[in-house]
Amino acid sequence: MNKTLITVAALAAVGAASGAVAFYAGAINIAADEPHHPLTYRLLEFARERSIAVRAGDIKPPIDLANSERVRRGSGNYDAMCVGCHLSPDADDSEIRKGLYPTPPRLAEKPAAALDPQFAEARQFWIIKHGIKASGMPAWSKGGMEDEAIWDLVAFVQKLPGLTAADYRTLVASSEGHSHGGLDGHHDGHAHGDDHGHHDHDGPDHVDHADPHAEAPTSAPPKEKKGHTHPPGFKHNH
Ligand code: HEC
Repeated sequence: MNKTLITVAALAAVGAASGAVAFYAGAINIAADEPHHPLTYRLLEFARERSIAVRAGDIKPPIDLANSERVRRGSGNYDAMCVGCHLSPDADDSEIRKGLYPTPPRLAEKPAAALDPQFAEARQFWIIKHGIKASGMPAWSKGGMEDEAIWDLVAFVQKLPGLTAADYRTLVASSEGHSHGGLDGHHDGHAHGDDHGHHDHDGPDHVDHADPHAEAPTSAPPKEKKGHTHPPGFKHNH
């Protein structure tokens, strides 16, 4: 072995050992409220985009992606599952989005990077299907979402930057809400007896005792909506 090789091997060993010591000492701050060094962020972003490009490059979007039925179906699922993190047009920030790192992009805003349109659709499909590790972006296929429902979401997300807040509301109201198939008992309706606005479209027997998820009837007067409350002193405005 020549001298250069020995030096390279020794340096690599020292590097690996100091990495291990740094990890063991807890030198990496994993807190979500402490941003990465800008260089680390850029490096991770580069690795993420290369990883997705290599895996999504061969995915072909369906030819009817722009179909208005797809967009309509996608809007209901988006409003039920994505809006807390990715927001709707003109929406204020949400608590969950503020706390996540990396911050989920506002999908109603045009993305900064101009990608080939077909690749942009394939990329979104891949991300929605598989999720992104350690970021908060779920792999929706794991929850039982089928490819067709994922394409409906892509169809909607593609239209989202062109929608006003009023267009968004109209479209969501015209949809069946949270309605993708895939997981047993996860078709439309989602009758949990909860207060999810647009879920209450599935008929008058919505909170009937036939529904195992419905809240037990009580003798209390019509419930007041308790909703989402924070202890006094917590400053935030919805
Ligand atoms: C719990 C929060 C959360 C929820 C819920 C969520 N996402 Fe995400 N999503 C993220 C985060 C965080 C990222 C950014 C990940 C990163 O940059 O590494 C992301 C990234 C994305 C991207 C890529 C954006 C881009 O161009 O870089 C798409 C598309 C997306 N999400 C779609 C969806 C859809 C559709 C849903 C609902 C079915 C959804 N997300 C639900 C957190 C969430």
